[in-house]
Formats: sequence, structure tokens, C-alpha cells
Amino acid sequence: MNAKIVVLPGDGIGPEVTEQAVRVLQVVARKEGHSFAFSERLMGGCSIDAHGVALTDEVLADCKASSAVLLGAVGGPKWDDPTAKVRPEQGLLGLRKGLGVFANLRPVRVHPALVDSSPIKADRLAGVDILVIRELTGGLYFGQPKGRDTRNGAERAFDTLEYSDFEVRRVVELAFRLAKGRKKKVTSVDKANVLESSRLWRQIATAIGKANPDVALDHMLVDTASMRLVTSPATMDVVVTENMFGDILTDEASVLAGSMGMLPSASIGATGPGLYEPIHGSAPDIAGKGIANPVGTILSAAMLLRHSLGLEAEAASVERAVDQAITDGCRTGDLGGKLGTKAMADEIVKRLEAGR
Ligand code: NAI
Ligand code: MG
Repeated sequence: MNAKIVVLPGDGIGPEVTEQAVRVLQVVARKEGHSFAFSERLMGGCSIDAHGVALTDEVLADCKASSAVLLGAVGGPKWDDPTAKVRPEQGLLGLRKGLGVFANLRPVRVHPALVDSSPIKADRLAGVDILVIRELTGGLYFGQPKGRDTRNGAERAFDTLEYSDFEVRRVVELAFRLAKGRKKKVTSVDKANVLESSRLWRQIATAIGKANPDVALDHMLVDTASMRLVTSPATMDVVVTENMFGDILTDEASVLAGSMGMLPSASIGATGPGLYEPIHGSAPDIAGKGIANPVGTILSAAMLLRHSLGLEAEAASVERAVDQAITDGCRTGDLGGKLGTKAMADEIVKRLEAGR
């Protein structure tokens, strides 16, 4: 298979971790006879420095014309002035919108050897394998009107939580499709006791559930879901929810895995390239030291193989190599170990080379 992959290393530890993920993809290509063409571009703070904007039209066009986009992280103290008109995150939002990636997938698995890295009790973590799907391009973050005014002498601020039926349908249908390759269970999270948008969400999820009787559907209020995520996470399989609930629940779920450095994500749309990135930020506190954990980005590359290139066996082989390295005790600093970024990736590559 031929694929064109745009790499956006970004800022801070972004370049350090993406370099290792690209190495892993190169090993996969060589082993399995694929041809991946990588092109590296600027996005985020580094693009602001070079071009005055976080994402140029040219880079967006390159991304749109690619098979998939692999991203490190953006931002850092240098660009943190809250009054600045150009900010690194504008690149991320522009990319998501430009690529039309409406679903953000965050798998959370807890490696048995890492249960002690999590603040959650080990017995609660056994068997945790959750896929949280957050709706990414609608809801409260995009609804109109939003703004400020003064009414009866009081300063007022308002946001709108808005969903159209097709926006709910496409993300819930994706959840059902992905659940069929897993434990066939979907938990749809809403606040249907209070919010009209959630009642529409639940109505559509219920209809999709009826059309897919092989998948078990349950509805859960977001407050209950936030509690269940830490009290009984092993009972959850696919969780699908609207943008802001998903923003909060995905961060909560990431705590289960012990370190931010471990977790990948994928943002995908109906067609076109997906966007793959670790869930962590640019970690300015450790940038340039060569000690960042590359696993989140390497597992994001595995998701790229699976979701954008349809290479399931290759994706699984990368995930197996990571699992084996962890099982064998390979650890970066965030997991209490001594391996640097490259040394950790070396261990993973070694196991990938030796694997099927
Ligand atoms: P962060 O995720 O960058 O770091 C939080 C803590 O986790 C730090 O102590 C960091 O050293 C550690 N950490 C993160 N990734 C790690 C890894 N791979 N290996 C080992 N340790 C790791 O979040 P923070 O500090 O809140 O934000 C730093 C910058 O990153 C800010 O400018 C923020 O805006 C940006 N950011 C960017 C994101 C993105 O590009 N998607 C997401 C989140 C934050
Ligand atoms: Mg967040």
C-alpha cells in the first residue's frame, strides 16, 4: 500500500516523540512491503514564529491531500500571552475543522504491569479496555449565539449547546460500528433529564440501537458516567458523548492509565484523512531533554494504520510490541523508569522487528 503521511511535530516534546513514531511506521512499511511517504510541516508555535500564523493555508492543503496526519503537540510558554491574537491552539482547531474530523477516539487500556502507576486501586483496573468517542465539531464549543452583553445592569455571558440530528447520528453510528469489533456494548452519555439537546441525542441513539440489535446500548447521565469511570471502569466498552462532556470524561479516563504519556488518540471524519496525536501536550518542563515517553505517539501511529490505512494486522503488531516492552519492564521516567525517548522506542522497535 502507498500512503502519504503529513507529520506535524509541533512544539516542545512534539518533535521528540513524533520522530520515534515515524521510525516505527518506517519499520512497519519495510517489514510488510508498504510505501509510506512522510512530509514534515510546521504547525503551532513553530509556525507562528516562521509565518505569523499557527496553520498556513498551504499546510492545511497538504494535510487535506494526505492519507493521514500525525501530530505531536503544540504550545508552550513562549506563545502563552493570553492577549495575543495568534495562538498555537488555533492551528489545532483549524486542522480539525478543515479536515472535518467529527469524532475523537481515545482508547484507554491499562497494562496489567502498570496498575500501580494509577491513583485508582489495582482491583478496579483489571480488564479496563474503554474506547471513549467524543463528538468534536459541534455542541457547546461551536453553538451560536455566544457572547456577552449587559442586561438590566448585569454583565451577561452566554454559550449555546446545539446539535443537529445528522451530527449526532454520524458519531453514534461510528460508535456502534466500532463496538462491533469489540465487546459489542455502547454507553451513550448525555444529560437528558435537563438538556433538550441531550433528549435529541438520546432519541437518535435509541433509534440506532434498535437498528443494531447485536450491540447492547445503555444510556447514562454524564454525572453518573463520571462516577462509574473511576468506580467500575472495567464494565465500560465504547462510550460516546457530546463535545464538552467528552472533553471532561476523556481527561478523567486518562487517569486510569497512569501516565498522560501512554495514551493515543485519533480524530476521524466520514471521509478524508484522519488526525492522530498523543493526548498529552508539549510538556515544556521536559522538552529538549530526550526523556519524554514516546508510547502515546507510537500508539497513535498504530491507530493511523488501523483507521486511515485499514492495516489492522500492522496496527495490532505495533500495539503488541508496546505491550511486550512494558511487560518486559521497559519504562520511561514518567513511569518510574530510566529509559529516554529513543531508548524506549528502540525497545519497541526491537520487539516489532522480532514479531510476526
Ligand atoms: P502537558 O500534557 O504538556 O504536560 C503535563 C505533565 O505531564 C507535565 O509534567 C509533563 O512533563 C508530563 N508529560 C506530558 N507528556 C509526557 C510524555 N510524553 N512523557 C513524559 N511526561 C509527559 O500539559 P500542560 O503542561 O498543561 O501543557 C503544556 C503545553 O502544552 C501548553 O502550552 C498547552 O497549551 C499545550 N497543550 C497542547 C496540547 C495539544 O497539542 N494537543 C494538549 C494539551 C496541552
Ligand atoms: Mg481536554
